Amino acid sequence: MKQSYVEFDKDTEVFHLRNNEISYILKVEEDGVLNHLYFGKAIQHYSGNKTYLRRDRGFSGNVPGNAERAYSKDTLPQEYSSHGSMDYRLPATIIRRENGSNLHDFRFSDYRIEAGKPELEGLPHSYVRNEEESTTLIVILKDRDQEIYLELAYTIYHERPVITRSVKVLNRTRESIVLEKIASMQTDLTNSGIYDEVISLPGAHLRERQIHREPIHSGIQSFESRRGASSHHMNSFIALVNHDTNEISGPAIGIHLVYSGNHAFQLEKDQIDQVRVLAGINDYNFSWSLSPGEVFQTPEVIMAYSDQGLNGMSGSLHHLLRERVARGMHQFKERPILVNNWEATYFDFDSQKIEQIVDEAAELGIEMFVLDDGWFGHRDSDNSSLGDWFEYEGKLKNGIKGIADYVHQKGMQFGLWFEPEMISIDSQLYKEHPDYLMQEPNRTPSASRDQHLLDMGRQEVRQAIEKQLCAILDEIPIDYVKWDMNRSLSDVYSIQCSAENQGETAHRHILGVYELLEHLVNRYPKILWEGCSGGGGRFDAGFLYYMPQSWPTDNTDAVERLKIQYGTSLAYPISSMTAHVSAVPNHQTGRITSLKTRGDVAMSGVFGYELDLTEMTEKEKVIVKEQVQQYQAIRPLVQFGEFYRLNSPFEGNLTAWMFVSPDKTEALVMMARTLASAQPVFHEVFLTGLETTARYQEQKTGQFYFGDELMTLGVNVPDFYGDFQTTLLHLKKV
Ligand code: DGJ
Repeated sequence: MKQSYVEFDKDTEVFHLRNNEISYILKVEEDGVLNHLYFGKAIQHYSGNKTYLRRDRGFSGNVPGNAERAYSKDTLPQEYSSHGSMDYRLPATIIRRENGSNLHDFRFSDYRIEAGKPELEGLPHSYVRNEEESTTLIVILKDRDQEIYLELAYTIYHERPVITRSVKVLNRTRESIVLEKIASMQTDLTNSGIYDEVISLPGAHLRERQIHREPIHSGIQSFESRRGASSHHMNSFIALVNHDTNEISGPAIGIHLVYSGNHAFQLEKDQIDQVRVLAGINDYNFSWSLSPGEVFQTPEVIMAYSDQGLNGMSGSLHHLLRERVARGMHQFKERPILVNNWEATYFDFDSQKIEQIVDEAAELGIEMFVLDDGWFGHRDSDNSSLGDWFEYEGKLKNGIKGIADYVHQKGMQFGLWFEPEMISIDSQLYKEHPDYLMQEPNRTPSASRDQHLLDMGRQEVRQAIEKQLCAILDEIPIDYVKWDMNRSLSDVYSIQCSAENQGETAHRHILGVYELLEHLVNRYPKILWEGCSGGGGRFDAGFLYYMPQSWPTDNTDAVERLKIQYGTSLAYPISSMTAHVSAVPNHQTGRITSLKTRGDVAMSGVFGYELDLTEMTEKEKVIVKEQVQQYQAIRPLVQFGEFYRLNSPFEGNLTAWMFVSPDKTEALVMMARTLASAQPVFHEVFLTGLETTARYQEQKTGQFYFGDELMTLGVNVPDFYGDFQTTLLHLKKV
């Protein structure tokens, strides 16, 4: 019999989304209040009879229209809460009507079940290759009094422990309504004691996605960005875990918001220790007006469940993001080893310098050269020319085309840097169109890195930029584009929005960026696109839909990278994370590490170099050549293997992680010890994910080990000498 992935029991009014790994259960409670019952490990035998207990609690009044004192929205775990009907916890939505009322009370109205997964128009989202991959439940809620409808979409992937969610608001009233808050999902966890901690990924520029774990406490916890982008400071991801959950065991729910603008993840532990979880567009500086008949679509949320700890959760997210969020020709293609001239030259380059770097790169076997910032307008520093996407005449002898041809003649690919969402006051574009700059007219806008935002919500602005980009991309043979964004939004005001609609500006900006990206990735399918935002300011699931890889941080220090790459791997696949070897002393920290250490750490990502190859000694060049060959040999394993975190740099001096090929015949282990000590204690690292009975040979030493012993007895961390030491173990099944 064909398995049914979404069932509705008419008697109990329970919806059960289920595959072999997970169950998600919701129930239409009395008077149509939608009750959340469960998300977690699959329940294969379920009667549907367990209902939520009721109790008359003081100051938690009744469900409107129902006299039953013990039945209150203030304590009932819900799927999507209303505002103003005696639920005092954070609401999922606030909708204001023309009479000023922001009261609403959404109740179950209808549902439908569809094969596959609907598209989210204009927004990035996870997708399916065919309708057999998933089933979607759409639950329709209606306000008790008004013709305002919510469509809650739940897609269950049949073969993954993943549910995606999003919400559509339909205004079928005769008046305009204003969304003041609209979450993409809500889940109210009952007080099962299972999820009592939350992990977030806070950080800063040069210190992105640090793992932060804390108890869920009474009151509100919020993890958000108000910077207009998903931000370096708080990534658009959280995980809910048990205090006992570790990398290999225990429950974990990972929640991604597939969105690159202001986001908010809110937790509220209520009076009886239940936890409301909300995720969506941040309501800070947000409002959205819907005229009669109009519809608003929220961004999507991805929820992955694992009972095998954080590695299990990350593994499912890695697969989903790599296989069903990232798109395009390069999605599953091995990514080229590049050299980027940014830290080699910054703005100070000419043809001769670039050609010298390219010559060296070709000699060393590097596969792509990327020309970074400084090739356009009259840009010799970061004070000018953003918005002028035409060549800096005379800076490069034979122009960009000359460099591209030179690179191609050497058998390498050519990449170019852009920062399309920005404008410099010192630019041709600003002279011609000062109004393109996002600001309130006649108010001095805040500069950051001496640059400003373009109002990408406006079509004419996007078109002007697109035209310029296409002129370059049509003329010059470009294999790769680095798409940068080097400041946060400010002066969020758009001349295209009316006074009442200014709250739409930030979201319209992101929608505009998405539209432009969609045009470009479709028009230039062969280009490999890499996202960047001063490093990792927009490393999110939304951007991954357009660009399969991203620069996770401007910090190229191998030691600091351990934490950044470890933290990033919690939520994002290795194929999305680029990593470069740079010069020492490191430009961000001043630290000196060996070329081996820098190489070993960078080889745990999409590998490349970012230093002046012409300044390297012959001895160093020999090492680089070996590193390039070594990476070529392990590239499929690193970029597309299973990734496991073993020892956390957030917990001590020792970092370890590993990659295992899908068929378990090959593995790569990276171990790093940060600081040396004169009387070191010895450590072992316990591998995982291998075939127990298989015999593996370490490629450098020739030593044989069984999978079982590698996982149970562990491997020795070498008796390193000196600070910042690393080693790679490459195991192959014999
Ligand atoms: C910030 C990026 O992260 C760097 O890699 C570099 O491209 C600079 N911008 C260029 O301005």
